[in-house]
Amino acid sequence: MRDEVNYSLLAHNTFGIDARCFRFLEYADIEDAQMVAKMLRGIPTPPLIIGGGSNLLLTGDYDSYVVHSAIKGHEVLPADDADHLLLRVGSGEVWDDVVALCVKNGWQGAENLSLIPGEVGASAVQNIGAYGSEASHIIYKVEAVEISTGQLREFKAEDCQYGYRQSRFKTEWKNRFLITHVTYRLSKQTGNLNIEYGNIRAELERRHIDNPTLQQLRDVIIDIRNNKLPDPKVLGNAGSFFMNPVVGREQFEQLLAQYPQMPHYHIDEQHEKIPAGWLIEQAGWKGRSIGPAGVHDRQALVLVNRGGARGADIVYLCQQIQKDVLDRFGIQINPEVNII
Ligand code: EPU
Repeated sequence: MRDEVNYSLLAHNTFGIDARCFRFLEYADIEDAQMVAKMLRGIPTPPLIIGGGSNLLLTGDYDSYVVHSAIKGHEVLPADDADHLLLRVGSGEVWDDVVALCVKNGWQGAENLSLIPGEVGASAVQNIGAYGSEASHIIYKVEAVEISTGQLREFKAEDCQYGYRQSRFKTEWKNRFLITHVTYRLSKQTGNLNIEYGNIRAELERRHIDNPTLQQLRDVIIDIRNNKLPDPKVLGNAGSFFMNPVVGREQFEQLLAQYPQMPHYHIDEQHEKIPAGWLIEQAGWKGRSIGPAGVHDRQALVLVNRGGARGADIVYLCQQIQKDVLDRFGIQINPEVNII
């Protein structure tokens, strides 16, 4: 177990914010996690449990415990039928390494989530998603240590109340569990790949690929992402800063009459989802900056640290954008990023 005092979180957040925490604990196996759980019992302020810090904005020093999983490794287990397998992975593994492993072995289900930053534990908390897929589609079970008792608990995906970037670990179960392993259920039969979202199909056509392999689909998604999303090692960012808002049918119809070119995704009879990136771009913010905090010039949904930004600079920019989008479209957009 790693135990540090007055520790810099610079290497633990992709926004590149140099904040410190009172104490940093890292668990490398289940016994460590149980020891960490014991240390957390009775602390006066809640801990901050982090993954790769790719969805985190630190607005100041964290005056309590920060906890991180370093549980590594994976094992392949039989599933309920011969066409599937179960992949049980340590929560501290890098998510994209898991996708690469699946693609290399011809296991289908994770490929559309290629290159999403972050770690396995966070995939189950945040229900990471992209290109028409989300982690909850393949999560079979989540194992965790309960902080209050130190006991091992297992949750089926159905228990976790997954929704768009949502889970029970973010609401009712927040700060109650230290996730140790996530088990994914993957298909051994490849086919019927999900290539309908956005410009995946167009990009495959451009490459003269009719029936992509898992690897070809992964390569296309990696290229699309690399083109639009800034590399956090070069330009600090936390991916999509805002969630895409869902609006009611009446408001949607009014907006569409005014902006016929507005992109949108059907949710149900009463609701439609509108890309926040489009709203932000229309409001004139794409590529703009306030001091060191900026809006990415190729994807307006991404806020970036142009160098030396403090969390407060990013929050101020976020608020100005929210205000403009609300004034212009009557839509409240909310951060997806965890602001601490
Ligand atoms: N758009 C603009 N201007 C922009 C950005 C987007 O007009 O600056 C338009 C695009 O032209 C497109 C639509 O908005 O018509 C949607 O854009 P895109 O396909 O890039 O996806 P998104 O809705 O902006 C979501 C996820 C991403 C995920 C992509 C692909 C959220 C909050 N974001 O973005 O997730 O990679 O779809 O599936 O749902 C993340 O969570 O960090 C993330 C990057």
